[in-house]
Amino acid sequence: MSDQSEILWNQFEEERRQAASSKDAEALRVKYLGKKGPVSALLKNLGALPPDQRKAAGEAINRLKARLEESVEALMQEWSGREEEAKLKTDLPDPSLPGTALPLGTLHPVTQIGLEVAAIFVSMGFFLAEGPEAEDEYYNFEALNVPKHHPARDMQDTFYLENGQVLRTQTSPVQIRTMETIKPPFKMVALGKVYRRDSDITHSPMFSQMEGLVVGENVTMADLKGTLAAFAEKMFGKRLTRFRASYFPFTEPSAEMDVQCIFCEGKGCRVCKNTGWMEILGCGMVNPRVFEAVKYDPEKYTGFAFGMGIERMAMQRFGIHDIRLLFNSDVRFLRQF
Ligand code: DAH
Repeated sequence: MSDQSEILWNQFEEERRQAASSKDAEALRVKYLGKKGPVSALLKNLGALPPDQRKAAGEAINRLKARLEESVEALMQEWSGREEEAKLKTDLPDPSLPGTALPLGTLHPVTQIGLEVAAIFVSMGFFLAEGPEAEDEYYNFEALNVPKHHPARDMQDTFYLENGQVLRTQTSPVQIRTMETIKPPFKMVALGKVYRRDSDITHSPMFSQMEGLVVGENVTMADLKGTLAAFAEKMFGKRLTRFRASYFPFTEPSAEMDVQCIFCEGKGCRVCKNTGWMEILGCGMVNPRVFEAVKYDPEKYTGFAFGMGIERMAMQRFGIHDIRLLFNSDVRFLRQF
C-alpha cells in the first residue's frame, strides 16, 4: 500500500471503530467513497502523475477503494442487524388493539328458508329424501298420474334432455322413488331444485320446492290439515289459514293452503296483492292411482302429500317482489339477509 493509501486506511479504521449505528456507517460511506471524498480526489489526481507511475498508482487506489467498500458494507450490515433486533424487542405489537375482521359470507335467503322449512318438518318426525334433477318422464309424470298427452302436462312447461329424460318440473317424483324403496308407514320431505320453461318477475327457470308425503293406515284429511296448520304456525306465527279446493293429478281431493298475509295481517297490501292472503302450498290426499303405480294397496293405505315453492316463501318473508333478484348474485342485495 502506498503511504497515502495507508494513512487513509488507518484513519478510516479509526473512525470505523467509533461508528455506533447504521447512520454512522452511511456517513462513513459518503465521507470516504462519495464524490467529494478522498478516493475520488486520488483518482482525479492520477492525471498529474508521470505516465510511468499512473498504472501502479491507479491499481493501488482501486484496491483501497474495494477494501473500503467491503468494510463499510460489513459495518452497515452489522448495525442494521443490531438495530432490527433491538426494534423487535421494544416494538411489540399491541395485543389490545381490535383485530381486522374478515368478511363473513351468509347463507342465501333461499337456502335459509329451505333449511327452516326442512327443520320444522324434521321436528315433526319427517325424514329427508332426495331424488335426481335429471329425471325419467315416468317418475316426473306417468307414475304421478299424468299420462303422455294429458292436458295436465301443460301446467308445467318442461325442459327435455337429449337422452329422453327431463329436468324434473317438480319434487313430486321423489314421492314415487321413496315409495318404491320403503314400506308405510312413513313421513318424508324432499327439498330440491326444479326446472320449468318460465321466466318473469315471479317465475325463474330454476327454483326450489319442498315436497312432503305421509303414508299409513287411516291417514285422513284431518291429519293433512292438522300437520300443515302446525307447520304454518311455526313458519309464519299464529295466523289464520284457509284451504281452497284445487286440482293436482296425483291427489284427490286437492287443495291449496293460504295463510293470512304476514305484512298486513289480512288488511290487504302490495305483497298479498290486496287479497289479505298469501298462497303457501298445494296439497291433497294421495290419488289411489299413484299407490297403484308403486304397488301399494290403495285399500289398505291412505296418505297425504304437499308441495311448496321455497323462493316464493323467501319473497314473502323478506318482502322481495322480483324473483330474479334472488339469482343475480349481486352481493350488495344478498348481504341484507
Ligand atoms: N308438484 C306440485 C307443483 O309443482 C305441487 C304439489 C301440489 C305437490 C300438491 C304435492 C301436492 O305433493 O300434493 O305445482
